[in-house]
Amino acid sequence: MNTYENVTVFDHPLITHKLSILRDENTGSKQFRELVNEIAMLMGYEVMRDLPLEDVEIKTPITTATVKMLTGKKLALVPILRAGLGMLDGVLSLVPSAKIGHIGLYRDHETLEPREYYCKLPEDIAQRQVILLDPMLATGGSGCAAIDFIKARGCHNIKFVSILAAPEGIERMAKTHPDVHIYTGGVDEKLNEKGYIVPGLGDAGDRLFGTL
Ligand code: PRP
Ligand code: URA
Repeated sequence: MNTYENVTVFDHPLITHKLSILRDENTGSKQFRELVNEIAMLMGYEVMRDLPLEDVEIKTPITTATVKMLTGKKLALVPILRAGLGMLDGVLSLVPSAKIGHIGLYRDHETLEPREYYCKLPEDIAQRQVILLDPMLATGGSGCAAIDFIKARGCHNIKFVSILAAPEGIERMAKTHPDVHIYTGGVDEKLNEKGYIVPGLGDAGDRLFGTL
């Protein structure tokens, strides 16, 4: 599923293996939360591969040295509530000084269209590189709406990181926001009539928070 230039489907065996455990209906909330965090951290490592470095002079205990440190745009991590919260700690452990925004959306069960209930982003979001987190990219409605909010605040430097995607969601996001790089741990077959990814892993928010 790499028909779009801006889509990365992870094929690392650790990510694939952990995703397979997530899919299993017998995996309970505790293990589900742990795995979502672990996968998010593994993905975050790759998502941030292109962060720029600059030369910095330091003193080691032995001598002075020119070393490389992160520079450039500061990061903002933005989980889409609720399920995106499950990915936050994993990515934050890699970049603890990143600022965090929250976008609250839920899908209307009838129309499958996203409904906004919360949006709080860092004041200087326009100057930041945003990593948007949501485990599920199904119809793409929620992800696209979240990107709209961020762009409306002047930020056009956005990456979208999901654990599992449907072809429909990738297509919608790639067409609506071709500037946003999409990362995902897998692309499944299709959506069912209720908008769930097939075979999928079920309702990510419910499985994370035990609200099944
Ligand atoms: C889930 C998921 C995404 C959305 C994906 O959230 O976390 O935000 O569905 O579906 P879409 O691509 O068709 O928009 P949900 O609406 O179930 O809310 P929740 O995280 O609060 O459970
Ligand atoms: N949201 C989920 O949590 N799961 C799906 O399969 C689709 C949307």
